[in-house]
Amino acid sequence: MAGTKIDGKVIAQSVKDRVKKAAEELKSQGINPCLATILIGDNPASATYVRNKHKACEEVGIATKDHKIGADITQIELNKIIDELNSDPSVHGILVQLPLPDHLDEFATTSRISPLKDVDGLTPHNAGLLAMKKAILVACTPSGVMEMFEYHGIDLEGKNVVLINRSNLVGKPLYHLLLEKNATVMTCHSKTKNLKELCKEADIIITAVGDRTKFTLTADMIKEDSIVIDVAISRFNEKLVGDADYEGIIQKASFATPVPGGVGPMTVAMLLKNTITAASLSSQIGR
Ligand code: GUN
Repeated sequence: MAGTKIDGKVIAQSVKDRVKKAAEELKSQGINPCLATILIGDNPASATYVRNKHKACEEVGIATKDHKIGADITQIELNKIIDELNSDPSVHGILVQLPLPDHLDEFATTSRISPLKDVDGLTPHNAGLLAMKKAILVACTPSGVMEMFEYHGIDLEGKNVVLINRSNLVGKPLYHLLLEKNATVMTCHSKTKNLKELCKEADIIITAVGDRTKFTLTADMIKEDSIVIDVAISRFNEKLVGDADYEGIIQKASFATPVPGGVGPMTVAMLLKNTITAASLSSQIGR
């Protein structure tokens, strides 16, 4: 029997419904939640992602500030924009869309953001809090994946998870979130040996490679009734695809996410949720 599709659009909508209510509540207290985005250069995929984020904010009643900047901006100029947004009391969340043009430093940029406005959870402060089980603002894609498990009542305790990604945005935060739920997590990457064998043993595979010429997860690589979460999205043969061959995988897995319509909508929904958390924080500390 085919497994259950984990429908990111449906789960994201349930998060958005809650966010919309929370935004109304904040507004009744005189706080107008607001997300500022910074988009640098002319990467068309990044421009689409940022546009979708603005649209989603509008749907749930979160205000936005849109900074579109030429690719020739210097690090010093970018720092100045971030500093201004950090000290602007009408802005609660700041998101710098990644990847940055090569001459800009990703760490210098993301760590410049005030931890209280860090809706990507990328500052050393928020990444450290997560590692110590004290997280307040967590990276959106990882928390979106956890929301999917929660929605379907998937118990992670004692499960063997193979995580194929080690980035600051996906793999590392997910490692901590899964560990908090008592899963046993193996973080794999491009140098991991015997990846196929490891996948075959896994109860849950979370994959975020994003390059079909390097890696495709197929049904013969998974265990019967396992769970497959596909975080990747890339263009391959003129189509938007993830890492996994969803049509084959869903015949064997107990649950799997499609691409598109899986993890992608969750990332946006969790960004909205983080913006509300940041706006509530600002009211608690009077900023
Ligand atoms: N680029 C791809 N995903 C993300 C994300 O979650 N946040 C930011 N800032 N940039 C991204």
